[in-house]
Amino acid sequence: MFKKLNILDEKDKRLRMTSDEVTFPIPVEYKKLIQQAIDHLTYSQIEEYEKKYNLRPGMGLAFPQLGINKRIIIIVEEVDDGVFENYVVINPKIVSNSVEMIAAEAGEGCLSVNREVEGHVLRYARVTVEGYDEEGNQIKIRAREDLSIAFQHEIDHLNGILFFDRIDKNKKFYTEDEIRLI
Ligand code: NI
Repeated sequence: MFKKLNILDEKDKRLRMTSDEVTFPIPVEYKKLIQQAIDHLTYSQIEEYEKKYNLRPGMGLAFPQLGINKRIIIIVEEVDDGVFENYVVINPKIVSNSVEMIAAEAGEGCLSVNREVEGHVLRYARVTVEGYDEEGNQIKIRAREDLSIAFQHEIDHLNGILFFDRIDKNKKFYTEDEIRLI
């Protein structure tokens, strides 16, 4: 049965903490929470369920947003109409990045930030992320475009950083000549 997640609001101090590394095996309750997060993120991107359960659409979550300061991130990307790919990365680390920077043209959103925040967030166009799956196997993911932004956004959460921290107050918006907007 679908259970809506309890997601912390930006004012909660736990979102500003640096999260701890995870050791293996991970507790059963973490696994349950991971599955719940996958379901929540998937449903939030399907209109029917989004309405039915009154969900805000989102493609990523980090454990601190659930009140647990551990280095676990979950991303659900719609790769095709109604087709979703899940990424669960434990102790994720960006091991390489492109020189090229991009920004989401419409700005970024966050399930912990319940208001509109204007401004472009500069992100690497491509990143390679290393970490572990739920069983403790080492994994490596190459992400580009939206997915690259999602990884950087979620890994920021593990370091107590929210996306609007990265918006330049003196220059909120960039033009296509300055940065590639996606
Ligand atoms: Ni977020």
